[in-house]
Amino acid sequence: MGYFRKNIEKASGYTPGFQPAQKNIVKLNTNENPYPPSPKVLKAISEITAEQLRRYPDPVGNIFRKAAAKLNGVEADYIMCCNGGDDLLTIAIRVFCDENHSIAYPVPTYSLYPVLAELQNCKAIEIPFDGEFNLPAKLASTDAGLTIVCNPNAPSASFINAGELASLADELSGVLLIDEAYVDFAEENCVGLVKDFDNVIILRSMSKGYSLAGMRFGYAIAQPELINGLMKVKDSYNIDTVATAAATAAIEDQNYFRQNVEKVKAQRKILTEKLRQLGFTVPDSFANFVLAGIKSCKANEIYDKLAQRNIFVRYFDLPGLQDKLRITVGTPQQNNKLIESLKEILSE
Ligand SMILES: Cc1ncc(COP(=O)(O)O)c(C=O)c1O
Repeated sequence: MGYFRKNIEKASGYTPGFQPAQKNIVKLNTNENPYPPSPKVLKAISEITAEQLRRYPDPVGNIFRKAAAKLNGVEADYIMCCNGGDDLLTIAIRVFCDENHSIAYPVPTYSLYPVLAELQNCKAIEIPFDGEFNLPAKLASTDAGLTIVCNPNAPSASFINAGELASLADELSGVLLIDEAYVDFAEENCVGLVKDFDNVIILRSMSKGYSLAGMRFGYAIAQPELINGLMKVKDSYNIDTVATAAATAAIEDQNYFRQNVEKVKAQRKILTEKLRQLGFTVPDSFANFVLAGIKSCKANEIYDKLAQRNIFVRYFDLPGLQDKLRITVGTPQQNNKLIESLKEILSE
């Protein structure tokens, strides 16, 4: 058509995980939490008044900032609310990257990063993980404006400890964004780094541990100077009144949250063991999904056969992932259905 910027014309855009319309399916493809959010979330939503909807929302979501700050042991000015973690990724790349400032990240990882790089027209420096998903040493020596480490990483579900990421932050000349979308299912997190490093941003999502993927809410944690820079670029009203109330109710109900996360972790252990018994190679997961490798059959064929049975998992036709399936941890019933179907498929 000729109307588009050149990079937009050649970009294919991000392909979100398939959201099937049918009701009677086992949906283990987009790492949603299989359990509902806290009942306090629904109560908070039901208490929203017409007057609140008539008015614009609090542009920075102070009520949520206070709650998130308390939970993370920082001041409220260390927090920026966003319309899902993805919103923060878009904001960060706009703030730190352009034709002369690249983005760097280890691969394989969250497939949105290269898409955002293409849209921003900045160079993406992709550094391969080793077979054990250790932090690649070369990541420290790029001159990227923004380095992202997804931790726990998707789709490997692997985890890098805070000490290693502190060393990386120390060595980098640019900003390090640690994407902790899945950290609620890990044993530790990297929030402590924001006190020591003025170049670290932590990304958090309310979609996974708090079961609010449909609500669209996430947040950044970083020193106020970084937060103020990010705030310049965000949409003035990037979070709405309903989502702010819902996310605040969710983060304040830590009892419910902890129980929810423990249920997922218990199922993760069972699912991992059962998949291993079926012959899959499944590294220990620190997230709410597992990456299951298979040598005896083609992973994409298993994917298709599961889909024919209305069971949806994720297959990535990418280097290092073609013999693997990423499977979200579901409810006991969903996981059993998956395992029974895999037994059938593998014995065909
Ligand atoms: C690694 C990673 N980061 C960030 C996100 C963004 O999550 P959301 O925008 O739902 O908060 C996702 C979503 O799946 C993810 O997998």
